[in-house]
Amino acid sequence: MRAAVVTRYGPPEAVIVTEVPNPMPRKGDVVLRVEAAAVTSGDARMRGGRFPTGFGPLARLGIGIRGPRKQVLGIAVAGTVESTGTSDHDFPQGVRVAAMIGGELGGHAELARVPASQLALIPEKVSFEDAAGLLFGGGTALQFLRERAHLQPGERVLINGASGAVGSSAVQLAKHLGAHVTAVSSARNRGFALGLGADEHVDYATTSIDDISAQYDLVVDTVGNLSKKSGRRILSPTGRLILAVAGLTDTITARGNVITGPIPERTSDATELLSLAAAGTLDPVTTIAGGLESIRDAYAVVDSGRKIGNLVILPNA
Ligand SMILES: NC(=O)c1ccc[n+]([C@@H]2O[C@H](COP(=O)([O-])OP(=O)(O)OC[C@H]3O[C@@H](n4cnc5c(N)ncnc54)[C@H](OP(=O)(O)O)[C@@H]3O)[C@@H](O)[C@H]2O)c1
Repeated sequence: MRAAVVTRYGPPEAVIVTEVPNPMPRKGDVVLRVEAAAVTSGDARMRGGRFPTGFGPLARLGIGIRGPRKQVLGIAVAGTVESTGTSDHDFPQGVRVAAMIGGELGGHAELARVPASQLALIPEKVSFEDAAGLLFGGGTALQFLRERAHLQPGERVLINGASGAVGSSAVQLAKHLGAHVTAVSSARNRGFALGLGADEHVDYATTSIDDISAQYDLVVDTVGNLSKKSGRRILSPTGRLILAVAGLTDTITARGNVITGPIPERTSDATELLSLAAAGTLDPVTTIAGGLESIRDAYAVVDSGRKIGNLVILPNA
């Protein structure tokens, strides 16, 4: 099969599309024909060897010193079941499914091996590209807002980085949970953020995040330009601060109302997100970059820091 391979950390040009052996399903796994795979900020970190401040040495020990040990990246996929390692699951050949793959990665390829326990059925109304696009940012936003911060109806939320993968889902899910949302993005993305449901907009070029004087019940930073100290400054007395891009120090010293850390990949979240998309409650805001060969261009968009919503490639197009 063809796959996008990364042997050394580097820029988008470090990715080579080449032939590699097909993955074989092991017990409890299925092999998917990948119809769409997201190219995410998480993939870009692993491709470039770029990690939040202080995490570099630890991350490289975990995923590879000079390059990723799992050379085919790709965290989030959608496709059809091609073959299965066991029959003790409900995913027969040909069924449409999506998944966060977990540590094995491998989504940037024509075929990918995925634990059956991580598969979510794609509702009929949801396309492969929307399913693959939605899961990374959507799962992160859902876990942070609802499970970690316990966002309540009527609370006031500030979402810094409202137009990215995590931010665009966070705006919509916060509205779905009944919150009042202030979105922070560039002026270019004002209409986009308001269109997702944000009640107010702050253009970071005219109002720096450090100059905001209002107070919020929840502040969600998906950019990395808030710290524990600067984030707490704009919290209400019962407010919580989510630092999705915290450095090592803020992560290990996070206590009380400061929420950081990696988000678990839950199949139940994937199922819920896909049904919200099918119902029209959650717009996956997905752009198709092209086939597998488009992956370098897709990474260049992610690396620019200007990606809007979610970006996918179609490995079997
Ligand atoms: N903790 C976890 O488990 C977890 C999980 C997922 C992601 N993350 C992290 O969360 C971060 C965001 O991920 P993502 O996938 O959402 O990224 P993304 O999609 O690449 O975000 C791009 C967006 O960031 C916005 N942006 C850039 N600079 C900004 C600024 N100064 N103020 C406000 N918005 C700004 C851009 O909007 P404009 O063009 O309008 O500037 C663009 O739309 C990444 O660092 C990622 O590693 C953490």
